[in-house]
Amino acid sequence: MGKKILLATEKPFAKIAVEGIRDIFAKAGYELLPLESYPAKEDLLKAVAVVDGMIIRSDIVDEAVLNAAAQLKIVVRAGAGYDNIDLKAATARGVVAMNTPGQNSNAVAELVFALMLYLARGAFSGKSGRELRGKKLGLQAYGAVGRCVTPIARGFGMEVFAFDPFIPAEAMKKDGVVPVTSLDELYKSCDYVSVHIPKTKETVNSIGFDLLSRMKKGAALINTARAEVIDEPSLLKMFAERPDFKYGADVAPACAGEIAGKYAGRFVFTAKKMGAQTEEANVNSGLAAARQIVAFFELGEKTFQVNK
Ligand code: 3PG
Repeated sequence: MGKKILLATEKPFAKIAVEGIRDIFAKAGYELLPLESYPAKEDLLKAVAVVDGMIIRSDIVDEAVLNAAAQLKIVVRAGAGYDNIDLKAATARGVVAMNTPGQNSNAVAELVFALMLYLARGAFSGKSGRELRGKKLGLQAYGAVGRCVTPIARGFGMEVFAFDPFIPAEAMKKDGVVPVTSLDELYKSCDYVSVHIPKTKETVNSIGFDLLSRMKKGAALINTARAEVIDEPSLLKMFAERPDFKYGADVAPACAGEIAGKYAGRFVFTAKKMGAQTEEANVNSGLAAARQIVAFFELGEKTFQVNK
């Protein structure tokens, strides 16, 4: 019998991506059950009860969701970060979890420049701003997004530096990136620091005042990774003690209200996570997820499994 696949996207994909996903499943003889912009977790719990596989974005797949999904064999996070999936619970239930690495990286990289330009040009207020040309950009982690940011930055005439203990210096140099050997050095020497680390137990609140306070005068922090990797009391302290410091983030920190009330013009926050929200990224990651599900059921393919 044909498989039933749930597309659970609280933040919906572009229509063209949903049609592409539907086509891939139709060709395999599978049925697509879309659940978009659902108002309550209850809707998700109900929808997963009858499905063999599911595609999600930042939708939370925790123990409750997995418990409600008696037939579920695979969940694919159409995107990079899988901190929204309880991997331990998935493994315990024999559910394979995957992501689609690299598929939405360019969209995130382009948003980095939108946030930088907004801050550089004084929030488009009419006041004289600064240019990106000649400035130093520091990448905290040199993964798929960092590799997409680099050529765009060079197009703007920026110098690119990166800190990533998991990537050989030679690989960075090949891309024209200057590898630095410590985070301190990165934060100390760059005009913009762009954060590209995943949210893990180790990285939550890992960017604290010690590090932030090393930033150059007038420097800006750009965060298109996860709000939680920045320690919020430290962020507030930076805003209070360093009137030259700016912060651009996708998505807003929990203390956004406090920042907005006191530090107008020194921050920009997206209302909803926008990094991967382009038609192109939706198509790339959505179709990749659908293909991975078909390959898993038909061929036992598990290349992008993240809960091994
Ligand atoms: C990712 O980890 O791929 C991005 O944060 C995108 O998240 P989204 O699919 O919820 O936009």
